[in-house]
Amino acid sequence: MTVIGIPKEIHPGEKRVAATPQTILKLKKLGFDVQVETHAGHGISCIDSEYREAGATVIDDTKELWATSDVIMKVRPPEQNEKLGVHEVDLMKEGGTLVGFIWPAQNKELLDRLAKRNTTVFGMDCVPRITRAQKMDTLSAMANIAGYRAVIEAANHFPRFFTGQITAAGKVDPAKVLVIGAGVAGLSAIGAAKGLGAIVRAFDPRSATKDQVGSMGAEFLELDIKEEGEGKGGYAKQMSDEFLKAEMALFAQQAMQVDIIITTALIPGKPAPKLITQGMVESMKPGSVIVDLAAEQGGNCSLTEPGKVVTHKGVTIIGYTDLPSRMASTASQLYGACIVALLDELQKPARSNGTEAPGKILIDLEDEVVRGAIVLHEGKMMWPPPVKEMPAAPPPEPGVPTKSSAAVAAKAAATSHGHDESSGLNPFVLLAAGILLFGIAYFVPTTAEQAKGSLLSHLTVFILAIFVGFQVVWNVKPALHTPLMSVTNAISGIILVGGMLQLSGELNVTTILGAIAVLIATINIAGGFLVTNRMLGMFRK
Ligand code: NAI
Repeated sequence: MTVIGIPKEIHPGEKRVAATPQTILKLKKLGFDVQVETHAGHGISCIDSEYREAGATVIDDTKELWATSDVIMKVRPPEQNEKLGVHEVDLMKEGGTLVGFIWPAQNKELLDRLAKRNTTVFGMDCVPRITRAQKMDTLSAMANIAGYRAVIEAANHFPRFFTGQITAAGKVDPAKVLVIGAGVAGLSAIGAAKGLGAIVRAFDPRSATKDQVGSMGAEFLELDIKEEGEGKGGYAKQMSDEFLKAEMALFAQQAMQVDIIITTALIPGKPAPKLITQGMVESMKPGSVIVDLAAEQGGNCSLTEPGKVVTHKGVTIIGYTDLPSRMASTASQLYGACIVALLDELQKPARSNGTEAPGKILIDLEDEVVRGAIVLHEGKMMWPPPVKEMPAAPPPEPGVPTKSSAAVAAKAAATSHGHDESSGLNPFVLLAAGILLFGIAYFVPTTAEQAKGSLLSHLTVFILAIFVGFQVVWNVKPALHTPLMSVTNAISGIILVGGMLQLSGELNVTTILGAIAVLIATINIAGGFLVTNRMLGMFRK
């Protein structure tokens, strides 16, 4: 049986651990044997006996733990163990497996070291950020925590309430918070600041974030300049100098008004854009706070010092780079759950073949998630994975406004053919089958002519419904299926007609039921169209 080892993290200040007693229960359920280093859970206030109760063996000797584990699960990339005078990679079993944050682009030397020992490495930071892999997305899980914690850190240094208050002693205004960058961390910060009662504003160059910011109850700040910030795969792209200048003018105005700035602006793989200048910091009211989440990538504020809290002319600038570790218990729980989901994914091919594979790790390189996450396979370099081109969105027809939801849905239905032709389900085959069914039903001998007539009319409607329904669903992009469902839900409010037909004559049970049907169907129709419009709005650029 495969043995998983959970070492104690040795990086200075790191409190997280790759497994909690709860996630160990799940690893055991997947069939793995788990061993944990003594005091591994110290930073999350989990004592060894809790790990034992969850079914893990607790090992005191660090070297023994590493040497006897087939798979090592860590948070931080392996590093030099100063106490033992040995690098963690050299403690690993030859040909073993490592799961953890790797950051391959920044850790070339580490990868060479791991390759020399023929290891297989899964980088939790390399899991592709696609819908199917959301449950393994440690980056989002950690950014969510960082955004929340940024607000808590700001509140800790801010000398006032977040929420406005009217007390006998006088009125206190609510704090004003500006969030720059509405990605995962930014949205989480907006939620936390709103929750504490602050007035929140946010800015992001990706127009798709406008609705998300709005739905969190914050005000989305806009620029006059038209430049879309969304690049490939929904990620942000580097903005033009003109755009950066315009947004910095906006931030300069805002700096004089707001009390707290939380900056999260980043383009993957690029140094953080410098958006808050010394002048802007100096224009803020004394007591104001800036939390710079991009500190590790150079910071969005020119006065940020990574890992430190500095004060400049009464303004506190927080540059912590370990925000998730400051909420180690939740961070470890979510991180551990993401790893469990990845191991579960690795066992899937065997399960779908009917071959039970408890406690085994099987590597299917055809699986997009596995291919993305694997950095080394038995010592062979697998990173970066081959780039998979996203299907391009259909180009908008010139001159056709895409204002109404019905137009967008109809256009999507008419222009998008993003489905897999090889699936073999041809609508004409379906229609032929329907006609055949129709013919059989017509010639089935029935004694009652009336029953035959009604069966025929129902069958005709049924076949037409299959054909039309199939055409509509098949020709609409999968991403638009949810709005499609809500619009069909609205259309299904045809029950309204039935209800209205019952509404004449005197007041009796039938008319009352008819009135109720009319009311409910009206809500259904209005609600369906409203929801569709809102969802389609999120797809519009
Ligand atoms: P993300 O990629 O989801 O969000 C970044 C956002 O910045 C995007 O929405 C993007 O459109 C926006 N952006 C890019 N250029 C911009 C510009 N010029 N002006 C305004 N906005 C711009 O990233 P995520 O996961 O939300 O992380 C945000 C930051 O937090 C990253 O720097 C990440 O490294 C950092 N982080 C920091 C931690 C800490 O302990 N300090 C922990 C976890 C994440």
